[in-house]
This record gives sequence, structure tokens and C-alpha cells, in this order.
Amino acid sequence: AIAPGDVDLKSYIQDVPDFPKPGILFKDITPLLSAPEAFGAAIDRFAAHFGEKDITAIIAAEARGFIFAAPLALRLGARFVPVRKPGKLPRDTHSFTYELEYGEDTLEMHTDAVQPGDKILLVDDLLATGGTVKACVSIAEQTGASIAGCAFLIELGFLDGRKGLDQYDICSLITY
Ligand code: PRP
Repeated sequence: AIAPGDVDLKSYIQDVPDFPKPGILFKDITPLLSAPEAFGAAIDRFAAHFGEKDITAIIAAEARGFIFAAPLALRLGARFVPVRKPGKLPRDTHSFTYELEYGEDTLEMHTDAVQPGDKILLVDDLLATGGTVKACVSIAEQTGASIAGCAFLIELGFLDGRKGLDQYDICSLITY
């Protein structure tokens, strides 16, 4: 068996040119998801990084963020809190609207999902421009909880998405 520390996670990410638009090199995570030794190693590494931080809740935005947040929440014994596109959550929500290259987007979280005493970990598959994670930070801050860190499978360093997140412990498993 391959020890989790020996798995080369980058080798499980497939480059797809011109998706979803010409000129974009898409990083496809599905080969990693279909390889339990790699998916498991990713969760192991997040758990090793944040395991001693007494995380009480993991916040993640749909859809790909959920894939990593759910097993990590179970591993850390933390609550899994979904952040969703508008109109999907049935009860009172905190929301945050942020700018995209063209237009804007809104994300929502149930108001009772997080309390002031919580220690939050934000999880996503990808840190690109940082718009999504910063929206999740803003939503989490509306609750008065503290943010212990951010975990990403992939960080596109050349997009400077971590700018403005210096105060947080950021763990990216793969960087480009
Ligand atoms: C992707 C990805 C992150 C976000 C990162 O989600 O899963 O959530 O983009 O980009 P950013 O740092 O520029 O915000 P997407 O909006 O494609 O939705 P999906 O997870 O539903 O595919």
C-alpha cells in the first residue's frame, strides 16, 4: 500500500485546455476523486494540518467544496455547514453578494448554523480569484465566530486569491 505522504496529488489533476472557455486551462479534479488513495491522502493531509485546532464547524460552498468538506468534517468531529446559491436553503440565512468579472454572485448560509463560540474552517477544492472564499469569510464573520483557517486542494497562485487572507492559516495541497 502507498503511504498517504507518498501520494503525488498533482499527478491526479488533469489539465483540460479551453474549458469552459477558449484560453482557460481547467484543472479537473475528477481523476483524484476516482482514486481513493489520492482522495484519502488529501483528506489525511488536511486533517494533519488542522487536527489539533479544535475546529467545531466546517463551512464550504457548493458544489465542489462539499466534496472535501464533508469527509473532513467527519474526520475532525466538526459540523458540516453548507453555503449555497440563493434560494436553496429553506430557513433564515446570512448572505453575501460579491463581484464577478461580469456581474455578481450571492451565497447564503443558515443563520443558526454557526454560533459566536465556533472555530471555523473554510474548505474548497480551488482557490482561484478568492471571491468565493472571501464571501464565505464575510458570511462566517456575520455570526461572530472565529475563523481558524482555510483549506484548499488547489491554489492558483498566479491569481493572487490569498491577497487579503494573510491573517488566516491557509493550507493548499497543490499550487500552480
Ligand atoms: C469553483 C471552485 C471554487 C471557486 C474558486 O466553483 O469550486 O468554489 O470556483 O474560484 P474563486 O476563487 O475565483 O472564487 P464554481 O463557482 O465553479 O462552482 P462549482 O463548485 O459548483 O463547480
